[in-house]
Amino acid sequence: MPGVLMKVVIGCDHAGLELKLEMISLLREMGVECIDSGTNNLQSVDYPDYGEQVAKAVSSGAVDRGILICGTGIGMSIVANKFFGVRAALCNDLFAAKMSRLHNDANILVIGGRVVGKDVAKEIVRVWFSTSFEGGRHIKRLNKIRQIEERMRQAGHETGTAENC
Ligand code: RB5
Repeated sequence: MPGVLMKVVIGCDHAGLELKLEMISLLREMGVECIDSGTNNLQSVDYPDYGEQVAKAVSSGAVDRGILICGTGIGMSIVANKFFGVRAALCNDLFAAKMSRLHNDANILVIGGRVVGKDVAKEIVRVWFSTSFEGGRHIKRLNKIRQIEERMRQAGHETGTAENC
């Protein structure tokens, strides 16, 4: 949402580093406050470590949204969606980016750094930040996701909430 005050945290593994640096420049051009949570070199690292940091920041409300980049985007998506209140969407194309905001109110954008080229990725980010949640019939569906999370919490499953981050 360019021009609107928004705090975003962005993380990647070694396979997403190059694209992440491009995305940080773009976000700053868009006027989005951007916190870089690593990794910051090409040494091989484990994507769950970086996915967890970003997902916890979104889950706790410390930031408004997150961006995660690994090779395919799959690993980061799997990790991020373990956390309470996180709706991470793997968007390697523009249609997915748009729909993930319109219908799913996605709060973490995941991109595959080895799948998408720099220019397409920039367009994905622009679309994702400029598209608002449609609401309406989708609200009840998101409420059902929240109810699943609540039931899991009651059943004793640990999730990354504000309380245990
Ligand atoms: C790293 O080689 C690669 O497995 C990782 O970036 C990601 O694609 C995992 O889903």
